[in-house]
Amino acid sequence: MITAQATQAEILEEIQRLKKQKNAVILAHNYELPEVQDAADFVGDSLGLSREAETTDAERIVFCGVHFMAETASIICPQKKVLIPDLEAGCSLAATINAAQLREWKAKYPGAVVVSYVNTTAEVKAESDYCCTSSNAVKVVNAIPADKEILFLPDMFLGAYVRHVTGRNLHVWMGECHVHAGIRPEEVRHLQEEHRGSETLVHPECGCTTAFLYYDAAGDMPRNTYFQSTEGMTRHVRQSPAKEFIIVTEIGILHRMEKASPDKTFIPASREALCRYMKMITLEKVLRSLQEDVYEVKVPAEIAAKARLAIDRMLHIG
Ligand code: 13P
Ligand code: SF4
Repeated sequence: MITAQATQAEILEEIQRLKKQKNAVILAHNYELPEVQDAADFVGDSLGLSREAETTDAERIVFCGVHFMAETASIICPQKKVLIPDLEAGCSLAATINAAQLREWKAKYPGAVVVSYVNTTAEVKAESDYCCTSSNAVKVVNAIPADKEILFLPDMFLGAYVRHVTGRNLHVWMGECHVHAGIRPEEVRHLQEEHRGSETLVHPECGCTTAFLYYDAAGDMPRNTYFQSTEGMTRHVRQSPAKEFIIVTEIGILHRMEKASPDKTFIPASREALCRYMKMITLEKVLRSLQEDVYEVKVPAEIAAKARLAIDRMLHIG
């Protein structure tokens, strides 16, 4: 019996016991609290978490991430019980567009192909042709015939990045994530000056992305600067011979990097880059989720069926 005064070790022990008893798996995004990442069976980026949800044999998925991620898992595996430990864990980027706004936008561009970043609600995905994450957005856009017009949503910085890399003339929705948008290029350039031997890893949702694209177009891209999804960043850090890295994204990812590469140094571009939605998921809430089977995330069948087409196209492309 776990009491209100239980220690973290006792909570963890009970989580492990219940996980076995209930045939559950815990999936956590790279931005989750360190102790939640440590309790998880799998930690990864949006794409990795979707794939893991798809392949797990567990009956229950405790999804430690934000609501659209749990919704995506529920769409992919409707036969499994998908639980999110706090229903308030939303996403400011996903909130920048709803299905009615997307329908209005589509009406202005008949015949255009709609590519939605995974950071969208199920209703928006249901109005989309393709889904994508930051790790496959370029691949997804490249898979669309060159003569097609593309509406890309909802992140303007990721959209600018994909436009730059693919050379496609995308129409981009002007949404942003408040956490990433707040990371300014001056801060990153300053750190690059201070740490000259370092490598810089930038999540393309960041506000500094467009400035870096200008530098690139002008042939003035700072050396050793790479755009990556959160999973791409963790892979890069493991494989690179460099010893110092400037990390330009939400700071939750530092925990995983420091754990995997304790001999390397990670410098966050901004200590303010913290997603309060991700941090709503605590160990206590994970335990309660397992104990009480809360909060189940379900998507109405008609919306799920349409959204699934867009998600499956993405998973098929890679
Ligand atoms: P990743 O897909 O790179 O994990 O990013 C998702 C995200 O931005 C969550 O905030
Ligand atoms: Fe959404 Fe931004 Fe938080 Fe990611 S970091 S979940 S995009 S609010």
